[in-house]
Amino acid sequence: MAFHLFARVSLVLTCLSLLPSSTYASPASGSTSSTSSTSATSTTFSATAVISTTSAAPTTSNGKNAKRGLSYPDTDNLADVLNINQTKGLVSWQYDWGLTPPPNLAQSGIQYIPMQWGSGGIENLSQALQAQNATILLTFNEPDFNQQSNIDPNTAAQLWMQHIEPLRTTIPGIRIGAPAVSSDTTGVPWLTSFFGACTNCTVDFLPIHWYGEGVEGFYSYLFQLYSQFGNRTIWVTEYADTSLADSDVMTFMNQTTAYMDTLDFVERYAWFGYFVGIRSSLLASPLTFTHRGLKMVLPIVRSLCLVFQFLHS
Ligand SMILES: *[C@@H]1O[C@H](CO)[C@@H](O)[C@H](O)[C@H]1NC(C)=O
Ligand SMILES: *[C@@H]1O[C@H](CO)[C@@H](O)[C@H](O)[C@H]1NC(C)=O
Ligand SMILES: *[C@@H]1O[C@H](CO)[C@@H](O)[C@H](O)[C@H]1NC(C)=O
Ligand SMILES: *[C@@H]1O[C@H](CO)[C@@H](O)[C@H](O)[C@H]1NC(C)=O
Ligand SMILES: *[C@@H]1O[C@H](CO)[C@@H](O)[C@H](O)[C@H]1NC(C)=O
Ligand SMILES: *[C@@H]1O[C@H](CO)[C@@H](O)[C@H](O)[C@H]1NC(C)=O
Repeated sequence: MAFHLFARVSLVLTCLSLLPSSTYASPASGSTSSTSSTSATSTTFSATAVISTTSAAPTTSNGKNAKRGLSYPDTDNLADVLNINQTKGLVSWQYDWGLTPPPNLAQSGIQYIPMQWGSGGIENLSQALQAQNATILLTFNEPDFNQQSNIDPNTAAQLWMQHIEPLRTTIPGIRIGAPAVSSDTTGVPWLTSFFGACTNCTVDFLPIHWYGEGVEGFYSYLFQLYSQFGNRTIWVTEYADTSLADSDVMTFMNQTTAYMDTLDFVERYAWFGYFVGIRSSLLASPLTFTHRGLKMVLPIVRSLCLVFQFLHS
């Protein structure tokens, strides 16, 4: 997430007030736009026809959407996890920028994807993954950003060869994502340097982050990073529309989830974010807090109406 989004804190108190913490209601009618917008799939992108194939969203064996995940199920409350996981819930995976799940997430039955956030503790990465039978790993979070993991590309490449590449021997079949750069101007140059320095690194998929307004900017970025970094499968591990108008955000969410469900090269996506536990901080600005020892910055607080929409439709 990016600091320039600090000011964009949307306080959607009317909707929040309708929703007690452990009982989600349907989105309030006042929070949705009555305008029906252009279908995402009808928007034209020059790259689309060339490089993408589409099909229906994959479904897990228990009927969830195999692509749809949550970033930071911020809760020590098992009831919140049960809400995510209720019969009609579509979310099939979760991550919290940490390497090992707290007990409530570990017990949730929702797949937890570990992340090696920065260089800290990387010596013990293999043990940590083996202890939880992990088969997928996310790596460095926004290393191009000095307020996040802040690792230069050459150091990241060295760390990768020393601690990450050997996982292919200790955990056969593991799938490993590239470092997830920010969508700021520093991101793409950082990744270019990283891939240049890490020619012997095996990178299975490319996690990306994006913040902005409107589907077109998001889709352009998605296709750009897909083609620029070797047509690797994409995981959108953080994204959100930063508009202050809830109706714009709802439209963006509706269109992007539907569209990404059809794009074969988008393997997973996670809306930013699920922050039930810090709703009491809504009036703090900017919203910074420490989560599991990591400094977090919350650019936008969205109403639970929107979260509900993401979880269920
Ligand atoms: C979540 O759902 C899955 C699949 O229905 C189930 O196996 C698991 O026990 C559920 N988790 C909780 C905490 O109820
Ligand atoms: C790695 O694990 C060992 C013991 O399992 C511990 O002593 C050590 O402090 C850990 N190192 C890091 C960097 O966490
Ligand atoms: C990992 O797999 C082993 C062998 O199947 C199993 O005994 C163990 O409980 C699993 N550990 C976790 C944390 O799932
Ligand atoms: C990549 O591996 C090859 C073969 O082991 C080696 O010769 C080369 O120096 C390595 N390149 C880098 C950048 O480490
Ligand atoms: C990516 O896909 C395009 C279009 O199919 C192809 O021309 C290009 O060679 C691919 N790039 C890589 C690195 O595979
Ligand atoms: C988003 O989709 C839901 C149903 O899936 C619908 O109720 C809502 O009106 C849609 N919102 C917008 C802005 O299109």
